Amino acid sequence: MTEIIDGDAVAAEIRDELREGIEALADAGERPGLATVLMSDDPASETYVSMKQRDCEEVGIEGVNVELDADAPAEELYDTVEELNDDPEVHGILVQMPVPDHVDDRRVLRSIDPEKDVDGFHPENVGRMVAGDARFKPCTPHGVQKLLEAADVETEGAEAVVVGRSDIVGKPMANLLVQKAPLGNATTTVCHSRTEDLAAHTRRADVVIAAAGVPEMIDGSMLTEGATVIDVGVNRVEADTEKGYELVGDVDFESATGTAGAITPVPGGVGPMTRAMLLYNTVKAASRQSGVAVDLP
Ligand SMILES: NC(=O)c1ccc[n+]([C@@H]2O[C@H](COP(=O)([O-])OP(=O)(O)OC[C@H]3O[C@@H](n4cnc5c(N)ncnc54)[C@H](OP(=O)(O)O)[C@@H]3O)[C@@H](O)[C@H]2O)c1
Repeated sequence: MTEIIDGDAVAAEIRDELREGIEALADAGERPGLATVLMSDDPASETYVSMKQRDCEEVGIEGVNVELDADAPAEELYDTVEELNDDPEVHGILVQMPVPDHVDDRRVLRSIDPEKDVDGFHPENVGRMVAGDARFKPCTPHGVQKLLEAADVETEGAEAVVVGRSDIVGKPMANLLVQKAPLGNATTTVCHSRTEDLAAHTRRADVVIAAAGVPEMIDGSMLTEGATVIDVGVNRVEADTEKGYELVGDVDFESATGTAGAITPVPGGVGPMTRAMLLYNTVKAASRQSGVAVDLP
């Protein structure tokens, strides 16, 4: 029997526990604040930002969204980040990526105050995570760790294979898995588009983390019996639905179920966890900046 790891349920538990932290902050006269910045006309980016704002409202975080025209001068975005850095009511800043081509995205990420960098993408925060002293773990890999914990998956001594090496998912994921720390201590392999014989790697993995952005590229024949499969991929594929498409992961869910010991669905697996961990980092940021201690889940 394959266990379906319910990301919606785990995320709901984390939000409940965060509410207690938010109450503790409120008792001390503090309200966590998250600023999102949207400089894009892309409907998907607009949806992501509005979901993040809705999540904030739901748990009692003060959410503000700054919208900039996609063709506004880059300086407007740089200045916005500086203003938010200086705003004491804003504890976390998230600039929705991708930004337009005329904006230097590296400059944007570097200009966010590392104490407010709730995405965890500032080089200082990346360095701290690699050194085993994370300030803010990036939301998606952190969410994956929480799913592994909730499903009682032992990573210590396990063979883990991460498919994908992006800065936001694959690399930090692999890094967390090799840390000498709880939910780490895995023997970790990172695969990517130049990997020869991907299946040879995934087949010996106790834990497979798929983050390639290629619809259903990993099927049951590429897995070992009983493996834990975490599917980060979110891919739109044409389908006979009202919207004309459906979302599928990087794993062929049907064929993987049966071989895998546990698997996350898409949607309803990693996605809700990424959102929950952004709230987590915002509460942590507010706690650090205010000096009010809170218990984090
Ligand atoms: N659920 C969530 O919350 C969440 C969050 C973030 C991302 N995602 C999804 O996760 C997926 C990955 O996102 P990303 O931002 O990391 O994507 P990305 O920046 O496009 O990186 C994809 C990675 O996969 C590798 N790759 C591509 N094709 C491959 C293949 N055939 N075999 C092996 N490796 C291959 C690429 O290798 P190279 O480096 O060699 O090009 C790259 O390292 C996407 O579907 C995205 O929508 C979901």
